[in-house]
Amino acid sequence: MKGAARHGRFPHPIPLRRVGEGDFERAARVFHVNAGVSAPLIELEAVHKRYLMDGVAVHALRGIDLAVARGELVAIMGPSGSGKSTLMHILGCLDVPDSGRYRLDGIDVTEMDADALARTRNRTIGFVFQGFNLLARTSALDNVETPLIYAGVAKRERRARARALLERMGLGDRLGHVPSQLSGGQQQRVALARALITRPPLLLADEPTGNLDSRTSAEILDLLVELNRSEGVTIVLITHEEAIARRAGRRLRLSDGRLDDGGPAR
Ligand SMILES: Nc1ncnc2c1ncn2[C@@H]1O[C@H](COP(=O)(O)OP(=O)(O)OP(=O)(O)O)[C@@H](O)[C@H]1O
Ligand SMILES: [Mg+2]
Repeated sequence: MKGAARHGRFPHPIPLRRVGEGDFERAARVFHVNAGVSAPLIELEAVHKRYLMDGVAVHALRGIDLAVARGELVAIMGPSGSGKSTLMHILGCLDVPDSGRYRLDGIDVTEMDADALARTRNRTIGFVFQGFNLLARTSALDNVETPLIYAGVAKRERRARARALLERMGLGDRLGHVPSQLSGGQQQRVALARALITRPPLLLADEPTGNLDSRTSAEILDLLVELNRSEGVTIVLITHEEAIARRAGRRLRLSDGRLDDGGPAR
């Protein structure tokens, strides 16, 4: 009964019985195409995560159910230690749940091996963190180009795309600057450009404005909102700031590893 109720919340886009027995590849393809039309980009079902520290278990996530549709901008709030970053790591395929299911773009990532997980991550997800995580002795342009090297894009196209995106972020006159020669807000814009250069459908941001003053925070947030509206990038954003969360389409609150749906932002 519990299982049936759960499936009711996450309706399967195609009845499984239509797929020929053992025809997993076809199933994955059909599911993928179908997912592109109707399924949520993110679907978590009863996700649990525990950490064991010196023999003591910390139950960081206690049964998370969450569906995020394509094109949503979702803010996640909650006190320190409530599990926000743990959830983000799972959403970003940097970590796996102990139990429960995670479907990303219609595909169950809980069944993938490390290589498949890394490929999915590279193709689907851009990350931005509080600490920017830029390469220190590397110019803004090179920082933004790096993910395209891994994606196998040719040098000339890499340059052109990185340059164009940095210009769009208002950093056209800072291409050769290394991070220490940039302000916090500028560094975060470089980090944002680096996260978006591969054109991922999903952007995950863990307190992206946590190290910035309120004016610079607002600028970064404007950029995120614009990306969401104009390009349809799905964004999941962790923030401590009500003012930021209010601009999201939906606010969720984590409390001691559980999620309350705060409903649409007012
Ligand atoms: N690698 C780890 N090993 C052991 N315990 C961990 C680990 N990572 C997180 N935890 C614990 O899991 C719980 C959730 O941590 P998490 O980092 O997800 O919180 P958070 O909501 O992001 O907090 P903050 O707002 O301070 O960033 C905390 O009690 C934390 O101590
Ligand atoms: Mg955190």
